[in-house]
Amino acid sequence: MMATATRRAKRTRPMPIRPDLPPEPEFGTPLDAAHASPDTLRLLALRRSTPVKVLADPGPSADDLDAILRVGMRVPDHRKLEPWRVLIVEGEARLKLGDIFAAARRLRDPDVSDDRLAEEMQLPLRAPVILCVISSPVHDPKKTPIWEQQLSAGALCQNILIASQAMGWAGVWITEDAAFDSHVHAALGMHGHEQVAGFIYLGTAKEKPAERQRPVVSTKATRWTG
Ligand SMILES: Cc1cc2nc3c(=O)[nH]c(=O)nc-3n(C[C@H](O)[C@H](O)[C@H](O)COP(=O)(O)O)c2cc1C
Repeated sequence: MMATATRRAKRTRPMPIRPDLPPEPEFGTPLDAAHASPDTLRLLALRRSTPVKVLADPGPSADDLDAILRVGMRVPDHRKLEPWRVLIVEGEARLKLGDIFAAARRLRDPDVSDDRLAEEMQLPLRAPVILCVISSPVHDPKKTPIWEQQLSAGALCQNILIASQAMGWAGVWITEDAAFDSHVHAALGMHGHEQVAGFIYLGTAKEKPAERQRPVVSTKATRWTG
């Protein structure tokens, strides 16, 4: 069953846990509509995901994760439904996730080789921290379309990635087969209406990721004149 839009967690306003993170503004406080920020522009102009095979320890601390999630969740969200949630997977829990991935793989493919299963078990160990972002659309009596709620989950993934990179952590948003596997969903305690928007793997880059081909803006954005 979907949660209703009215069921909300009690709100608290914690103090910043990083000196460079401003305190969360009080509800209703007027905020700057724009923040001229060359640093942000530079990050967006040069940011790059790190292929998961070159991610390594260390990863974000608990305080960093708290900051990443707090900043990340300031995301566009039509009618404030908060139609997503995040599972933080780190340390030993990654081994359990690997077992889940392998068990799901065997169910998908009963003839899978032991070597392939062993690889599947290792997948979550490729980075010290994994944030599993779950799209969790709510039943909205005022009818925010499910599609909009799913887009908000995608925006959350990207916000988390950018916030992480701004705090000095490398990361990548991946799905792979596991994200679409109903056995994985069940083992993670997901409900029938939920989907994995992404596994955000976070850590430290062992080497610099090279620039990839980027879109030619003029082929993707055209001026509509009616
Ligand atoms: C929803 C989604 C799922 C993705 N899944 C994978 C994946 O399973 N494996 C992968 O190598 N890249 C995947 N990517 C691509 C990477 O996240 C990333 O966009 C790509 O490596 C380009 O990096 P960039 O962020 O520097 O543009 C996915 C991207 C999105 C948006």
